[in-house]
Formats: sequence, C-alpha cells, structure tokens
Amino acid sequence: MAAIDFRVATAADAPGVLAFWADAAEDSDRPPDSPEAVVRLIARDPAALLLAEDDGKLVGSVIAGWDGWRCHLYRLAVAPSHRRRGIGRALVALAESRFAEYGGRRADAMVLDANAEAHRAWSAAGYAAQPNWSRWVKPL
Ligand SMILES: CC(C)(COP(=O)(O)OP(=O)(O)OC[C@H]1O[C@@H](n2cnc3c(N)ncnc32)[C@H](O)[C@@H]1OP(=O)(O)O)[C@@H](O)C(=O)NCCC(=O)NCCS
Repeated sequence: MAAIDFRVATAADAPGVLAFWADAAEDSDRPPDSPEAVVRLIARDPAALLLAEDDGKLVGSVIAGWDGWRCHLYRLAVAPSHRRRGIGRALVALAESRFAEYGGRRADAMVLDANAEAHRAWSAAGYAAQPNWSRWVKPL
C-alpha cells in the first residue's frame, strides 16, 4: 500500500466528504449531514476536519472539535477497503495532537452502544465508556 497522506480539509472538500461518509461512516440515529454544514464547520474552525488520502482518494476522516472548553471527536470513519491498517488510529492521534496544542485535557466521542467495531477501535485508542453519564438532547 502506498503511504497514506493526512491533511486538513477545505471547503472544496465538502461534496467529496459527504460522498465518503455515505459509504464509510456510521449513519444510524442521527440527523442527515449536508455540504453546507461541512462548509460551516470549516468556516468556524478551519482545522477541525482531518482527512486521510490514499493516492488522492479520500479514505478516512475525523472531526476534531475544539470549542475552547472541551475536545469532541466526531465522524471517525475509514473506507471499508482500508480498514485495519491503522488509519483510524492515526486520525485519532492527529486529532489528539490538535487538542494538546490548545491545552485540551480530555477528549470524548459519541459512540452507539451497538457499534461493536467502533468500541474496539476506541478502546484500542485508549477511550472508555462512562456508564454513569447519558446524552441529553433536544432538536433545535
Ligand atoms: C471504527 C473505524 C473508524 C476503525 O478504523 P480502522 O482504520 O479500521 O482502525 P485501525 O486500523 O486504526 O484499528 C486500530 C485498532 O482498533 C481495533 N479495531 C479496529 N477495528 C476493529 C475490528 N473490526 N475488530 C477488532 N478490532 C478492531 C484493533 O485493536 C486495531 O488495532 P490492530 O489492527 O493492530 O489490531 C472503522 O472500522 C470504520 O470506519 N467503521 C465505520 C464507521 C464507524 O463506526 N465509526 C465510528 C463512529 S463512533
């Protein structure tokens, strides 16, 4: 396999990222994404969306969300053709480097209870569930 390149996304990547997520990301129980939302994310935080590419083809993503207070990880996904090669682990490590630059001290991820594959990947990266907390949501 050729080396994987990692880079920060730009607004021009939005359509490609949406197509990639349709193929590679976990999409249960969530509002639909849109190119406008990706462009808005990048406008607000130009370093948040990190991508992995294999010879120019998008094969991985993670959103390293830093809001000035906490560090949140979203949209960790690796192309089915490229899984178990360390790309997910590398994306999480990149996101954590970003958080460390800002002084972040703890990162978290939203993970579906039924997503066993993701549990293994997050566990391998050093994350653990907090069973004493729940997510409380309200649609806006
Ligand atoms: C979860 C996901 C991002 C992992 O990406 P990946 O690039 O395959 O992960 P890595 O190769 O970096 O794996 C790192 C470690 O995680 C663990 N792991 C990852 N996937 C695993 C699997 N399917 N089974 C068992 N262990 C797994 C292993 O310990 C692995 O290390 P190893 O390969 O040396 O044993 C990928 O499976 C994916 O895109 N899934 C669909 C989208 C998704 O559910 N995202 C998470 C949303 S919370």
